[in-house]
Amino acid sequence: MQERIAELRAAGEAAVAAATTTDELEELRVAHLGRKAELPNLLRDVSKLEPAERGIVGKAANQARQALQAAIDARVAELKASELDAQLIADRVDITLPGKAEPVGGLHLLTRVRRDIEDIFLGLGFDIVEGPETETVHYNFDALNHAENHPARDRADTFYLAPSPHLDGDVQRLLRTHTSPMQVRHMERAEPPVAIVVPGRVYRPDSDATHTPQFHQVEGLWIDTDTTLADLKGVLLSFARAIFGPDREIRLRPHFFPFTEPSVEIDVSCHLCGGTGTLKDRSRCPLCKGTGWIEILGSGMVDPNVLAAVGRPEFDPEKVQGFAFGMGIERIAMLRYGLSDLRPLYENDVRLLEQYA
Ligand code: PHE
Repeated sequence: MQERIAELRAAGEAAVAAATTTDELEELRVAHLGRKAELPNLLRDVSKLEPAERGIVGKAANQARQALQAAIDARVAELKASELDAQLIADRVDITLPGKAEPVGGLHLLTRVRRDIEDIFLGLGFDIVEGPETETVHYNFDALNHAENHPARDRADTFYLAPSPHLDGDVQRLLRTHTSPMQVRHMERAEPPVAIVVPGRVYRPDSDATHTPQFHQVEGLWIDTDTTLADLKGVLLSFARAIFGPDREIRLRPHFFPFTEPSVEIDVSCHLCGGTGTLKDRSRCPLCKGTGWIEILGSGMVDPNVLAAVGRPEFDPEKVQGFAFGMGIERIAMLRYGLSDLRPLYENDVRLLEQYA
C-alpha cells in the first residue's frame, strides 16, 4: 500500500508540474484530491490494515495529500502571476496614441495664411527671418532710398514714437510701415547669396473695411550674382499657383517703389472667374471687377542704392543683384477666402473665427 501511495504522489506531482493553466490545476485537484480520488479514499481502508501498519500508512497518505496540495497551491500562485502579466500586456493602452476627442480651438485665419506662405517659400529654398517692429527712420526710409520729401514719411502716414533720449539719443523711432527694413538689416549681417522671407506686423494710420492700423506683411529678398527679373517672375508664379491654384497666371505691371528699379506690381489671374472677368451666369466677376486680374503684391529688382546703403563689399552693387517683394497677409487672406471686411478678423468673435479654423 505504501508503494501505491508513493506512485500516486509521484503521478500527481508530475501532472501538477506539467500543468500550464490555473483551470487545469483545478481539474487536477479534483482528480487527485477530490472526494472520488484514489489517494484520499485509501485512508478509509487504513482501518482494514494490521494495527502496526495503520499509523505508518496513514501518515504516508496524509503526507502525500499535503505535499500534492502544496504543489498545486505553489503552481497556481506561479501561473496566476504569469497569467496576470499576460493579461496586462494584452490590455495595454498605448498612451502615445492621439486622443479621440474633438480638438478644442484652432489657429487664427491670419496665422494659417502666414504659415501657408512661409511653407511655400521654405519649399522654394528661402529662409525665414524676423525683425523689430519699432524701426529707425534710417532703416524704414533712408536706407531704402526714400527721397527726403517722400509722402510716406509724413507724420500723418506713419506712427512716430516719442523720442527716448536715454535709449536712442536723438534717433527718431517709428512703428515700421513695411517689412522692407529687414532687407538692409539682413544684408548687414549675412553673406550672399541670400534668399529670405520676413513675416511680421507693420503699422499705418489707415482704418477702413480693407485696412487696419496694424496689419501683416511678408517681405522677400533674393540676392546673388546673377538673379534677374526672370527669377522674380518664376518665384512669384510658383507662389501664386501654390496659394491660388495650379491654373493661375501672373502678369507684371510697371510701378514705382523707391527701393526697387525697375518696380513691378504682380497681378494674378482671378481664381473666381478663371481670369475671364465673367461668371458662369455671364454676370461681371465681383472679385476682379471684370478685369480678370487681381493685384497681389509689389516687387522689383533691388535698387543699387539700397545695396550701397548696406555698405559692405560683399553686397557691392557692381557684384550682386537680386529682387525683393512684399505682400500683405490680410490681402492674401481676403482674396483667398472672399472676405469683404477685414475688421472682424481682429474683433475676436469666436463664432466668426471658427468658420476658418
Ligand atoms: N514695401 C512695399 C510696400 O509696403 C512692398 C514692396 C516690397 C515692394 C519689396 C517692392 C519690393 O508697399
